[in-house]
Amino acid sequence: MKVFITRKIPVNGIDLLKKKGYDVKVYPKEKPISRQELINGAKDADAVITLLTDKVDDAILSKLPKIKIISNFAVGYNNIDISSAAKRNIMVTNTPGVLTEATADTAFALLITCGRRIVESDEFMRKGKFIGWDPMLLLGTELKGSTVGIIGAGRIGAALAKRCSGFGMKIIYFSRRKNEYFENKLKAKKVTLTKLLSKSDFISVHIPLTPETHHLIGREEIKLMKKSAVFINTARGEVVDEKELIKALKAKKIFSAGFDVYEGEPIVNKELLKLKNVVLLPHIGSATFETRSKIAEIAAKNVIAALSGKKPPFLVN
Ligand code: DGY
Repeated sequence: MKVFITRKIPVNGIDLLKKKGYDVKVYPKEKPISRQELINGAKDADAVITLLTDKVDDAILSKLPKIKIISNFAVGYNNIDISSAAKRNIMVTNTPGVLTEATADTAFALLITCGRRIVESDEFMRKGKFIGWDPMLLLGTELKGSTVGIIGAGRIGAALAKRCSGFGMKIIYFSRRKNEYFENKLKAKKVTLTKLLSKSDFISVHIPLTPETHHLIGREEIKLMKKSAVFINTARGEVVDEKELIKALKAKKIFSAGFDVYEGEPIVNKELLKLKNVVLLPHIGSATFETRSKIAEIAAKNVIAALSGKKPPFLVN
């Protein structure tokens, strides 16, 4: 059996596949694979491990006649046309659960970094602007007692809520269903999106990108936010209308924003780079040694199950 991997991943995942006797090929370049290179690499393969940067649409799937499984090296799978895969009897899998804590850490890091202007302060120091303690210098928002609005009460939203609760923040959340953990353990209240946006000091997005959530946060939603609001996105860039968010940040209609994901990633809107009231990360939500090894293990186990005629642990279609 042949397995093609579209980028170098932690070696434990590759070893698991090799132990099964599979012929494993890894795309050797240190950059996202092109469409043609993906087709060339995967056309004879039985399984392919893809990244969230690989757009696997119907046109690509039609060129991979032997493929039984697309194992995505991520929890999000908006890069794959899962219904086209299903029509072609190709399994699609993801890696949920293992990146919850790392991603919640990243969201929390952005929350505190934006709220307390840590990056701006660092830049201030490096520019030699510090001439002495100043009662009015670089004031930010205190976490304790402030309200965090969490959009999406799944695993990552809940892990962020737990961190916020530990810092004495009040929690409100927006979700389709009431979440017992939020309600009972964190004393959090489920609210409408309108209420969440208008009441929160910090807002963090934790929902997948689907046709329904595309631009869920647009001009009207941004207008509802407080002038002091801090907005964090570690989910997917397209959930937010980035141009509208940039306009609001430029006009200081909100206080600041922390980005780990971008609309049109990896291209970053040049306007963002000019703003002082943003913190920009290169999609490192799950980037810890521990988590990326676990993702590699699960991605490999999904492949092994599928190629052994079993249902993979994390089948999404
Ligand atoms: C995912 O797995 O979907 C994350 O965005 C990776 O950091």
